[in-house]
Amino acid sequence: MQTPNKSLWGGRFSTNLTSETVAFTHSIEADTRLIVYDIWGSKAHAVMLERQEIISDTDLREILNWLCKAEEDFQNGNFSLDPNKEDVHMNVESYLIENAGPELGGKLHTARSRNDQVLVDAHLYIRDEILNIQRGISKLCDAFLNIAKDHVDTVMPGYTHTQHAQPISLGFWATAYVSMFLRDQKRLQSAYELANTNPLGACALAGTTFPIDRQLTTKLLGFDTPHEHALDVISSRDFIAEILFALSLVMANLSRLSEEIIYWTTFEYDFAVLDDAYSSGSSIMPQKKNPDIAELTRGRTGRLYGALIDLLTNLKGLPMGYNRDFQEDKPPLWEAFDIVKSCLGILPNLLNTTTFNTDRMAELVNSNFATATELANYLVKEHQLSFRESHEIVGWLVGELVEQEKTFTELKLTHSLLKQKDIDIPIPELKQILDAKLALENNQSLGGTSPAEVNRMIGAFEEQLNEIAMHVYSCQTQIEDAHKETQRIVDKVLG
Ligand code: ARG
Repeated sequence: MQTPNKSLWGGRFSTNLTSETVAFTHSIEADTRLIVYDIWGSKAHAVMLERQEIISDTDLREILNWLCKAEEDFQNGNFSLDPNKEDVHMNVESYLIENAGPELGGKLHTARSRNDQVLVDAHLYIRDEILNIQRGISKLCDAFLNIAKDHVDTVMPGYTHTQHAQPISLGFWATAYVSMFLRDQKRLQSAYELANTNPLGACALAGTTFPIDRQLTTKLLGFDTPHEHALDVISSRDFIAEILFALSLVMANLSRLSEEIIYWTTFEYDFAVLDDAYSSGSSIMPQKKNPDIAELTRGRTGRLYGALIDLLTNLKGLPMGYNRDFQEDKPPLWEAFDIVKSCLGILPNLLNTTTFNTDRMAELVNSNFATATELANYLVKEHQLSFRESHEIVGWLVGELVEQEKTFTELKLTHSLLKQKDIDIPIPELKQILDAKLALENNQSLGGTSPAEVNRMIGAFEEQLNEIAMHVYSCQTQIEDAHKETQRIVDKVLG
């Protein structure tokens, strides 16, 4: 079975494609979200062609007129991508040719290839999505900072090996997430910079004999610079791998957070209670309240890793130049953006509406020797013991108490056990050493859990988040200014 229309590249072919060839090769679903970027790229290219006297001003007017119509029709739902035309680039060009005729419409593709078009579209789209994700991460950081501000001296057990380790504050825990997500912001910022070079003008792979002006299209599309090497840029998808890696780590971090939410809301932990609006029930067990949002976030993380591995595997065998394998880069990248955006869309609200059970945290921090290290430190400072010696003594003390099913809260017993080791700490002093809240206050080393340090870090992280917000804003402005400038020229040409 043959399709009715011959392709724009059909000159050397004697028959049309079979419908199964079309179905197998087209990329319409993935390409639909690129159409507005494709049209922007075409407008910039056409303006440049006219400035360089490669096409006439009449040509330009006609081309721009139909590109604007194509955009309008797409937005009104009157122009949708046709699989028979393979991809977004051929669809837009066909729209032009069908409306303006092959003589005029056929001029747009002078000094241009779909190979550089597909890259232009991807670069433009990716820039917007990275900025969206950066804004989402900042919102999540704000939610953590609000928790931190409310809880700089709310004491809870800090964990290593998922076992009680030392007292920390809930605010310290919350700022740890901010510190972690700030690194994601930096990775995304660097991925943005790598993606912000202009591929347009590379053409098929070798540049062109036409006197094109790549600086002009760079300016009109809001890129930082033209990508310097035509063959390299045509062959490059590492900027996508970079983004998928950055997004994979964002998801890994969201998944770790989700894991904690899942644990913390168990009956056993009872550290946090989710708002009803951010939980789910069971169809059979009436009492259930489940942390489904956190579980789905954790469960979707693998899709991001899959996307990264998919792309890396795609790239490893490809020789220099365009290879059709590249077409497969888009569906996993789109899915990656969509998943990360949807998780970041909901998790800040989930955190903002979560209640923390600070009584339970205090109860646990005092029931399992979390201040043993404080006592060991005290012995080093006040009893001229080496840390190893004092570690040994406190370890022995804990062993004895565990044996008797007691804890540090039994001050008299603790005191008399220490005396067996010739250490005599008056009970009021012992009480202070073993007090979890005082332990917090005294961990004043840089980056430690003391309220003073947590407050300092809150301030430092707010400053970094402001810088990120300003950076995101300036990238957004660069994009919008370039788009406006392209549109201003288009409007001027069209009168
Ligand atoms: N649709 C293709 C892609 O997504 C881009 C077009 C380039 N095709 C070509 N045969 N040179 O990668």
